[in-house]
Amino acid sequence: MGDVQRYTLADVASRNGKNAPVWIIYKDSVYDVTTYVDEHPDGPDSIMEQAGKDATKDFDQTGHTADAKTIMTKYKIGEIIEEEKKYDANGKKKKKVVSAPPEKNNRSCINIVTCGLIG
Ligand code: HEM
Repeated sequence: MGDVQRYTLADVASRNGKNAPVWIIYKDSVYDVTTYVDEHPDGPDSIMEQAGKDATKDFDQTGHTADAKTIMTKYKIGEIIEEEKKYDANGKKKKKVVSAPPEKNNRSCINIVTCGLIG
């Protein structure tokens, strides 16, 4: 597992099929589908629209069968770097991490007073 190739979202974005290979992302894994595009049962257009992008939602919403997922595994070339992954270890979409607001000074002041009274 340690030697899996890692890519950034920017790495994938540059493989958008415009004078470049066709890479797509599905659940944080990166697929080079350059040679598959013309074999796609629905034609190349639907995949090409997702070239360089995260195709997870579109792939799932277009009702692909288990067969499609099996085919897909043949084209996997790596994974998105940890910092840019969108799914957790259970395959669930990560919540956006919002940084906690800095504590207001007057509050810690009250804490000091309270501590003083109690202590
Ligand atoms: C590695 C990537 C992909 C693989 C291996 C793949 C494979 C397949 C296969 C095997 C089918 C035939 C139906 C089935 O067995 O599910 C299919 C149908 C289809 N695919 Fe994909 N696909 C890929 C990516 C995409 C993407 C990114 C889109 C974007 C929207 C897309 C849209 C469709 C549509 C619209 C159909 C027709 C569904 C229907 O029959 O109603 N596919 N695909």
